[in-house]
Amino acid sequence: MRSMGSCFFWEEYGYYCFPRFKEVNKLLRDRRFGRQINHLVDVDNAEKEERCPALVRFDQNSLLEMEPPTHTRLRRLVSRAFVSRQVETQREEITTLANTLIDKIDTNQPFDLLSSYAEVIPVIVICKLLGVPTEMADQLLDWSHKMVAIYEHGNNKEVERIANEATLSFEAFIESEIENKKRKPSNDLLSALIKVEEEGERLNIEELIATSILLLNAGHEATVHGIGNGVKAILENSIDVTSTEEGARALTEECLRFDPPLHMFTRFVLEDLEYQGQAFKQGDVIGLLLGSANRDEEKFSDAHLFNPTRGGIGHTSFGAGIHFCVGAPLARLEIEIALSVLFERLPKVRIGSEPVYADRYHFHGLEALVLHSR
Ligand code: HEM
Repeated sequence: MRSMGSCFFWEEYGYYCFPRFKEVNKLLRDRRFGRQINHLVDVDNAEKEERCPALVRFDQNSLLEMEPPTHTRLRRLVSRAFVSRQVETQREEITTLANTLIDKIDTNQPFDLLSSYAEVIPVIVICKLLGVPTEMADQLLDWSHKMVAIYEHGNNKEVERIANEATLSFEAFIESEIENKKRKPSNDLLSALIKVEEEGERLNIEELIATSILLLNAGHEATVHGIGNGVKAILENSIDVTSTEEGARALTEECLRFDPPLHMFTRFVLEDLEYQGQAFKQGDVIGLLLGSANRDEEKFSDAHLFNPTRGGIGHTSFGAGIHFCVGAPLARLEIEIALSVLFERLPKVRIGSEPVYADRYHFHGLEALVLHSR
């Protein structure tokens, strides 16, 4: 696809896709393209609003689905609350959690790393960071899986109905947590989001609820597969995992470049324009192939090889521009620690059975990762 030119028409999607690093990186930052179009043109949402009001409400108040100036205001407030939580202070707690999970694994038997480790770390970490009870983790995972199911290819009205119900329950839960925090604030992200203020601006209740749900969902879904895909790549390429922090950081970046958990995002064309000889109309959709950009030979030499010593950041796995992943420092820290603890505790770990990617479209990750360590 990359050798065919800067973009090509993907018939099944019905829009142009950009597979090369150069364009993906540029287009993510180009303000003539946006995640939303309904701030510029009238989009008739009445039918969807009637069918799944909670989902529509969530989208309307979600950072990820906004464009400036609304996005600028909310992003500033969220970043401020997020930065003040100082992600690096989580290092010790995440390390303890990872070790506790390894303690629980019966290493005399083959075990599934996803269900016993990779799926548990991110949800517990984001619950603790936000300050919601970790006993709710399974319930949150269930709501979250039901909500993100609408991003799947070929979703239908039943999937939307279930997602809407999950959003309603999620909203009710978060609203009661917000009430608790208002009465008894503590040193967590939810309390910080409630009180964060800049130039007289604050998050209103709908924004608070949507942001909390977004952080809980985004905070674990991708990180799970960041860990799973990373461990698979390391084992398949017989990589010696070093114990230095620098080595772990470079390894994390290479895992994210080589097999990113989110491989594609779309943008609306916000005005009629021509891009590299191709005409686009306002409202057209374009696809930005993050996974492909990360394998672009023009940017990464021997891009198809997994090479943790190539060092440095520069992949597109966290996006770029105004929607660049808010949680990137946290995700990086979680993956770095998850990999370090796993290989330190179980140095003989090997792949037990051929890993199979799940038949899913939005999140690119494994069904299971069966390992053994004897
Ligand atoms: C390996 C793990 C992760 C990956 C690969 C990832 C990837 C991404 C990408 C590509 C975007 C931009 C989407 C776009 O431009 O359309 C994004 C946005 C976002 N991510 Fe992540 N993410 C990860 C983990 C996290 C975590 C741990 C959190 C929260 C704690 C988080 C919160 C967010 C939020 C709130 C946004 C929206 C930002 C905005 O629209 O301004 N993500 N993420």
